[in-house]
Amino acid sequence: MELDINGQTAVYGIIGYPVKHSKSPKFQTAAFSHLGINAVYLPFEVKPEDLKKAVEGIKSLSIKGFNITVPHKEEVIPFLDEVSQEVKYIGACNTVVNLDGYLKGYNTDAYGFIQGLKELMPDLEGKRYLVIGAGGSSRAVVYGLTKEGAEKIYIANRTVSRAERIAEDFKSLHRFAEEVIKPVSLGQVEELLDRVDVVVNTTSIGLRDEDEPLFDYSKLGKNHVVVDIIYRKTPLLKAAEEKGCLWQDGLPMLLYQGAKAFEIWTGRTPPVEVMRRALTEK
Ligand code: ATR
Repeated sequence: MELDINGQTAVYGIIGYPVKHSKSPKFQTAAFSHLGINAVYLPFEVKPEDLKKAVEGIKSLSIKGFNITVPHKEEVIPFLDEVSQEVKYIGACNTVVNLDGYLKGYNTDAYGFIQGLKELMPDLEGKRYLVIGAGGSSRAVVYGLTKEGAEKIYIANRTVSRAERIAEDFKSLHRFAEEVIKPVSLGQVEELLDRVDVVVNTTSIGLRDEDEPLFDYSKLGKNHVVVDIIYRKTPLLKAAEEKGCLWQDGLPMLLYQGAKAFEIWTGRTPPVEVMRRALTEK
């Protein structure tokens, strides 16, 4: 359907810095257009020092909803009126709905990661996971896996204290969370490999092929399921493919976090396949 902008067109968008590489405008617009919803979704580049003014502007301009990306996901929280349980635990917000000037924040990254992983592995319960990294993305991944009933989640990070912080913060997620989540150092990764079913990279290592590897990827086994939340076939994923592992890059997580945001804003069932096509189109 053609875009037909008029006086009643609703405005949605994404704020980030930089934001020009964001894939969200493309696939969110495809979803609005497919369902015949009179709305547009735009990228807004917001410098860190302008974040507060931008959020006030969003209210004044009645922008109906927005996504938040790097580096504003944590910093936006104090400017919101209410946040979901996910945001409180994860400490980051990627989706806001504007209810007549009342801003409610959500984190759909945990949902996005879980839905994406279910495409490879329908049953996540009772499995053992190794999550590398302990930043905001790792917190979303670990939150999702804990809620899904993971048997074990090792969090390996260069700075172990950040992994310990996640374990501490997530203790109250359920009765056994304290036994499930184990912080470890990056040096322990190789010896843990035969104790886990799934390996997830949430660090920025692999954005460039020349990055120093996180561990010796040739030690992966063919039964490992390997996920990298980076949107490309990283050296980790190439190694997984060579071993014959099931593997996935960051696009499914991106797709499903966006689909969930769309549902929060519109109350409609997101046209996931339309969104996927828009996302993967060259
Ligand atoms: P995000 O919000 O995307 O998770 P982040 O909070 O900046 O981003 O976290 C980046 C992650 O990548 C962290 O786990 C970081 O490790 P530290 O906590 O030790 O900084 C990890 N990371 C970044 N560069 C790294 C490197 N060269 N080697 C190992 N880990 C690295």
